[in-house]
Amino acid sequence: MSEILCVVGARPNFMKMAPILRALKGYPDLRPFLVHTGQHYDEEMSRVFFEELGMPAPDRDLGVGSDTHARQTARVMEAFEPLVEERAPRLVVVVGDVNSTMACSLVAVKLGVPVAHVEAGLRSRDWSMPEEINRIVTDAVSTTLFATSEDAVTNLRAEGVAPEKIHLVGNPMIDTLRQHLTAARGRPALVRFGLEPRGYALVTLHRPSNVDHEESLRRILDSLGKLARRIPVLFPMHPRTRGRVERAGMTFPSGLRVTEPLGYLDFLCLMDRARFVVTDSGGIQEETTALGVPCLTLRSNTERPVTISEGTNQLLGDDPASILLASEVLSEERPSEPRCPKLWDGQAGKRIANILASQIEAQSRLDLCADRG
Ligand code: UD1
Repeated sequence: MSEILCVVGARPNFMKMAPILRALKGYPDLRPFLVHTGQHYDEEMSRVFFEELGMPAPDRDLGVGSDTHARQTARVMEAFEPLVEERAPRLVVVVGDVNSTMACSLVAVKLGVPVAHVEAGLRSRDWSMPEEINRIVTDAVSTTLFATSEDAVTNLRAEGVAPEKIHLVGNPMIDTLRQHLTAARGRPALVRFGLEPRGYALVTLHRPSNVDHEESLRRILDSLGKLARRIPVLFPMHPRTRGRVERAGMTFPSGLRVTEPLGYLDFLCLMDRARFVVTDSGGIQEETTALGVPCLTLRSNTERPVTISEGTNQLLGDDPASILLASEVLSEERPSEPRCPKLWDGQAGKRIANILASQIEAQSRLDLCADRG
């Protein structure tokens, strides 16, 4: 039996790992061992996702929690190293671009364990984003690079990565969306918030570049307040953003409806029926593309250009006033059939599991030959 350590740490990791874990069940010789670093730990940032996505409870929770980048990364590394030594896995699978992704990939490669990175090759070319550094470091030490889109493959090739390491497999986050869309559509989330289909805007903002500076946060809240005079605006607020609002002693503009972070199904339901979404999240740029819902991204770059060229995403830059201008032209109608990037078809998890299984099988054969030799 070959063990694979599958690492999750923060909210967007869960929906990427869930379809891979499910697909790995089809390979009785492989045993996934699920590790939660504990980077996210709140009920609504973590546990609810395990429940709703039908994920098994983590086999090990490292319980690292929040801290500065260096301390959080170091704590994950310190806790993960003995675990890798204890389990002696054939492979470590990491997803996305959070601190836990980078920390665990560094530990694994230094212990001589191959790393597979899911969502490899995305590049914003913005080194002020912690995620860009995490992506570059993780890709550099990974032996298998699973790309969600062709632009990611092009980026990796341009960086000199050997073609045999790169696999274009599609987008496991969209596997999860497709699997749960019917259930999400049945949720009473709009009734709960008194919203009409296509009659509201949904907002998520948590990037340090937007929320960590008081002036920028103030201008964002001001623009959202103005938007809320035109259309109901629902803002499930990330704890980082709420923390910044509270620390600065700001109040929410009247009309803006702020809630706690929502679970996966309610959020998907609300995203699916929104007239448009305002965000700075990477995953939401992809999910709105798959749903065909307009997405206004409050950033001046994206590591996911395919959501613009083949999807519904629009970059607004960093001036929150542009939310008002851009949203004016968005009608209640949504395009009849969303365009969707290649291989965002709900089968990415299966492709990933299949490739991992063949790699481990090939390695086992080599090991056997070496033993006999
Ligand atoms: C992290 C990821 C980011 C991802 C985001 C999704 C990194 C560098 N960033 O950002 O890429 O888009 O997750 O949510 O890994 N907090 C809680 N409860 C929690 C988790 C966090 O209250 O369960 C608060 C803490 O005050 C913490 C702050 O949120 O200091 C930030 O958390 P952290 O994990 O450092 O980064 P995120 O902003 O969540």
